Amino acid sequence: MRGKVIGDILVLKNEPDNVDELLKLPEVKRIVKLGRINGSKREPEVEILVGDDTETIHRENHCFFKLDVAKIMWSKGNTTERQRIPKIVKNGETVVDMFAGIGYFSIPIAVHSNPEKIYSIEINPISYGYLKDNITLNKAEDIIKPILGDCRKVALKEVADRVLMGYIGNTHEFLDAAMQIVKPGGIIHYHESVPDLLKFKRPPQRIIDAAEGRGVEILKKRVIKKYSPGVYHVVVDAKIN
Ligand SMILES: C[S@@+](CC[C@H](N)C(=O)[O-])C[C@H]1O[C@@H](n2cnc3c(N)ncnc32)[C@H](O)[C@@H]1O
Repeated sequence: MRGKVIGDILVLKNEPDNVDELLKLPEVKRIVKLGRINGSKREPEVEILVGDDTETIHRENHCFFKLDVAKIMWSKGNTTERQRIPKIVKNGETVVDMFAGIGYFSIPIAVHSNPEKIYSIEINPISYGYLKDNITLNKAEDIIKPILGDCRKVALKEVADRVLMGYIGNTHEFLDAAMQIVKPGGIIHYHESVPDLLKFKRPPQRIIDAAEGRGVEILKKRVIKKYSPGVYHVVVDAKIN
């Protein structure tokens, strides 16, 4: 069986042989089959095999994430990154989450760290709706300010001690905006999907190019997960001076 349990829903990649057996798995009450994930908004195609609807509450790392598995993607492969980031956020930081989704990073930071403020920007109204629900579910109303819109158009200038760019595709096209948002001395967490041979060369170079002469200190480069054959999802932490 290739699949994952999100809340009480088993999300499968292939047609199952025996649905009754799968329903004996702990926590599983509903089953869906996942198709392709489409577009920059990352919307999955889903067929319901058992159950009436596809909304659930997933628990991870002492956080609650309400989502609809038919509308929103949940990446198990990003779990370690969702745990790493709250550990490095320092007291009193201002964080800008440029691709907030349902709060994948913003919620664990609000729950486990002690930031002054998190601005969580999300362009997809459905994800934004769940982001707002998750802020309430995790009692983070005083810390997270959700913003519906395009992170390139939001007027935040030199406000962030830390900028999260948790999106892959054409992420480099958003580096200009991140450079405007970050404070001098702030850190950008830049994600990219990169062919193996370039995986630790191209992302730092793109950050250096976008910095246009500002000093860049590469703090860390790590593979988050394999994205497709020969292509890796990589994150680079860079301090912008
Ligand atoms: C796939 S999610 C991030 C996944 C997350 N990193 C994780 O741990 O699973 C990326 C989000 O960025 C949003 N997005 C895409 N373009 C955007 C833009 N220009 N401004 C703000 N949000 C955007 C998408 O709607 C999506 O919800």
